[in-house]
Amino acid sequence: MDVPKPRILTRRWGLEGSHTLAVARKHGAYESLRKALTMEPSAITQVVKDSGLRGRGGAGFPTGVKWGFVPPPEKRGDKPVYLICNADESEPGTFKDRYCIWNDPHALIEGCLIAAWAIGAKTAYIYLRGEFKFVKDRLDAALAEAREAGLVGRNILGTGIDIDVWTHLGAGAYICGEETALLSSLEGGRGQPKLKPPFPAVEGAWRCPTIVNNVETLQVVPWLIEHGAAAYRAIGTEKSPGTKLFSCSGHIRRPGVYELPLGYPMIELLNDECGGLHDGRTLKAVIPGGSSVPVMTPDEVARATMDYESINEVAGSYLGSGGFIVMDDRTDLVAALANLLRFYAHESCGQCSPCREGTGWMHSILQRLAAGEATEFDIATLRDVANNIHSRTICFFGASAAMPVQSFLKKFPEEFFGRAGVDVPDDWQPRAASAK
Ligand SMILES: Cc1cc2nc3c(=O)[nH]c(=O)nc-3n(C[C@H](O)[C@H](O)[C@H](O)COP(=O)(O)O)c2cc1C
Ligand code: SF4
Repeated sequence: MDVPKPRILTRRWGLEGSHTLAVARKHGAYESLRKALTMEPSAITQVVKDSGLRGRGGAGFPTGVKWGFVPPPEKRGDKPVYLICNADESEPGTFKDRYCIWNDPHALIEGCLIAAWAIGAKTAYIYLRGEFKFVKDRLDAALAEAREAGLVGRNILGTGIDIDVWTHLGAGAYICGEETALLSSLEGGRGQPKLKPPFPAVEGAWRCPTIVNNVETLQVVPWLIEHGAAAYRAIGTEKSPGTKLFSCSGHIRRPGVYELPLGYPMIELLNDECGGLHDGRTLKAVIPGGSSVPVMTPDEVARATMDYESINEVAGSYLGSGGFIVMDDRTDLVAALANLLRFYAHESCGQCSPCREGTGWMHSILQRLAAGEATEFDIATLRDVANNIHSRTICFFGASAAMPVQSFLKKFPEEFFGRAGVDVPDDWQPRAASAK
């Protein structure tokens, strides 16, 4: 599409040595920090609020509003405030955050420092997925350089302000991307989610006020301080301002991470940025926001734009973390879904029965369906199990496992019944009466 494609997150990607302090500083790194440390913390939060930036971890919650939930000093007493950067990134189909850190670690460090100053935190932790040792090593090297240059730690840039940033490697569990599980893991406990409220902004790490933000979210912040909220709002759509990183994978010619303004037509992301499908293939389905969101049909793909509102209005799905998974006509959707459920059954933390038992049931039914060993009654059971997980669990993982199943059964029923050797029944109801 012939629209400007400003580079906010990727502006230093591709420069030789972009991960080093020298190259990053030559191209503007830490100038926003210098400016931010002269601003009142509340003024920074206001810029982020005015920009309309929405969290890029999946839920799209307005970032400035979340920062505003930290209780003021008179209410929180002597409790410290923490900033946590969520770099767990274990959602199948999502691989943008590791690119952010790999290509521009100083943008993340700068984003963390500015965010910490805005919310009153003196300590920030960057929690990385266990498999990201190589990413952590690069980030640690960048942190060491920044610390040596007086940009991190005590008396930053001679201002008298102290903010430290530490990295922490998890043990490789998907559930540790869920913010309350992440905090438990960071504290040294089991990575298991807790019921909310209390929300981390009020009672988070070590029961102190804590803001958890995604890597991409924090990496936007230096640009916001440099260019202002209005410049950000001029990009994207009214309700989904700015640019977003899309992790594109599957049956496309050019898989990779693309930065595009929100509101970009989905079909153009597929055909232009991703290079389209391979010769002779046709589109079967797309999962637009990482493996946890409902699947989309080709007709829906043709009508939707890449933003929080359109995907929901057109297809009842979500932008999520922007993991764009493309499946062409060769794809066995039953086998693909069975593979996905293998992941969820393995990753359930096991606290809630509907999730612990339901993910295992869904996986085993799908395995039997894929092998041609299940009946149409099994499909009804699969539907009922999925419908009775959503909204009945401690955390959103349960819904994340159920939504792909519910949407595949709703939008591609013939694939499933065909595997059971029967036509889709005339009275097939994708949602059971008892479901939420
Ligand atoms: C099962 C599950 C896994 C999640 N994994 C991640 C993750 O890897 N990275 C992330 O930023 N958010 C993840 N989230 C969302 C976080 O709980 C949280 O909302 C997010 O880090 C907030 O950051 P944001 O406001 O910048 O989006 C996950 C949520 C759930 C339920
Ligand atoms: S929904 Fe699943 S992952 Fe989340 S707390 Fe319950 S059992 Fe654990």
